[in-house]
Amino acid sequence: MDKPKNLILVIFGASGDLTSRKLMPALYSLSAQGLFPNKISIIGTGRTSYTDSDFRNRMRDSILTYSEEKVSGTDIDTFTANLKYLTMDNRNPDDFRRLRELVEETDAADIKSGNFIFYMATPPVMYESIALNLSAAGLLKSKTGFRRIIIEKPFGYDLESGRKLNKVLHDIIEEEQIFRIDHYLGKETVQNLLVTRFANGLFEPLWNRNYIDRIEITSSENIGVEERGGYYDSSGALRDMVQNHLLQMVGLTAMEPPSSLDSNAIRNEVLKVFQSLQPIRQEDVPKQVIRGQYTPSIIRGECVKGYRQETGVDKNSRTETFVAIKFFINNWRWGGVPFYIRTGKRLPTRVTEIVIHFKPTPHHLFRRDSGKINANQLIIRIQPDEGILLKFDMKEPGAGFNVKNVNMDFHYKDLANVRVPSAYERLLYDVTTGDSTLFSRDDEVETAWKFLEPVQKAWAEDPSIKVYGYPAGTWGPECTNDLIEGEGLTWRYPCKNLADDELYCEL
Ligand code: BG6
Repeated sequence: MDKPKNLILVIFGASGDLTSRKLMPALYSLSAQGLFPNKISIIGTGRTSYTDSDFRNRMRDSILTYSEEKVSGTDIDTFTANLKYLTMDNRNPDDFRRLRELVEETDAADIKSGNFIFYMATPPVMYESIALNLSAAGLLKSKTGFRRIIIEKPFGYDLESGRKLNKVLHDIIEEEQIFRIDHYLGKETVQNLLVTRFANGLFEPLWNRNYIDRIEITSSENIGVEERGGYYDSSGALRDMVQNHLLQMVGLTAMEPPSSLDSNAIRNEVLKVFQSLQPIRQEDVPKQVIRGQYTPSIIRGECVKGYRQETGVDKNSRTETFVAIKFFINNWRWGGVPFYIRTGKRLPTRVTEIVIHFKPTPHHLFRRDSGKINANQLIIRIQPDEGILLKFDMKEPGAGFNVKNVNMDFHYKDLANVRVPSAYERLLYDVTTGDSTLFSRDDEVETAWKFLEPVQKAWAEDPSIKVYGYPAGTWGPECTNDLIEGEGLTWRYPCKNLADDELYCEL
């Protein structure tokens, strides 16, 4: 792996939440661990007017509040001493000329590398304008160092806008210079999927339609939309979580072994999975896709707002806060194996997990009183309590053959006594070294949008497709269970519903 070189990092949207909560703490941690180049200068920009010193103080507070690294006062001061701030409007070309002067001045005086990274931590509507202005100001041309752009999801809001954004970027910069952040790919346990699958001889022979009955991927959150109602109401769970995080997890779970660890070798295999997704016909959307929206309820005696009561949300909103989809992957490995994915806000708990349901034994030698047959399950817990759980049957001691389903449980934290780095730490570090393995490529993004296009169309064109209400604190609409094929089969529920069914909360 290349060592990061001296560089200047410009953050657009530096007065916003993403910079305070995620980027600065991650940048600080990298610097405290000595993972940054010797010389790095971070320039924050935004419309809010700050002096350098205001900005440093604000970032100091953010690091103290949100850093996962042990924070030392002197280290923070050393780190923040190099921060600069430029008040500017992302739509104003003159401001980009001022930015260029500041960047070039900083480079000439101190950094001396010509390596510039531009991070768009702004609302996505600003991406095109920032990119075009950077290009017009000559900031994307380089004689000496590298130029890289980082953008955050969502990359467009449908196939057409996703393609348009890619085109605008490709007109001014090469694909290799674009780093699209899907922070799930920065999570250690998501990367560990590759190691679990391809470093072990045990799993791979079983990892196909001959032995696997179905695969389930869940990413649930117990929080609601919080202060992001305005953004979320025009997005919804399909764009916010499925198009990116969930499909990337599908890609890594279902992909073929890559020929090497080269970033394109890995992303090619993920792309092939996306290309093999069986298209969902528009008329099948009501059967294969369930959307829901949380309604008010009482959780542990406390009234919890419904989605339509949240700040910034339309009182008649039909935006989904929950989605579950059943689909197939049309290739030799997965033909006929149903994949089920679901995500939602205000579910009973925060958990992200991949459940591999193996087929039951062909002959059931050991009958249970309940008549229930437990097939093996491998549960890959992405968060929290990262780890792997294998469920299998054992004989209970004593007379007869009483069979009990038991757990073999590995917790990732037992592997090493070190803090698991945050996704942003890993991803920011990778941009500095130019490793794009954990970033979404243009063709992956477009293929993912293409898969979801019939769903978006059906929802937009057919008002008779239901948005099911589900009380906050429950596992989503009850009909979500009907998606699962097979008698008596349900989703895996890592915990019970929390909402009190008997009580209804008037808000
Ligand atoms: C973000 C979504 O990408 O991921 C949020 O925009 C969601 O709505 C978040 O809350 C979930 O991330 P994590 O890392 O907490 O699972």
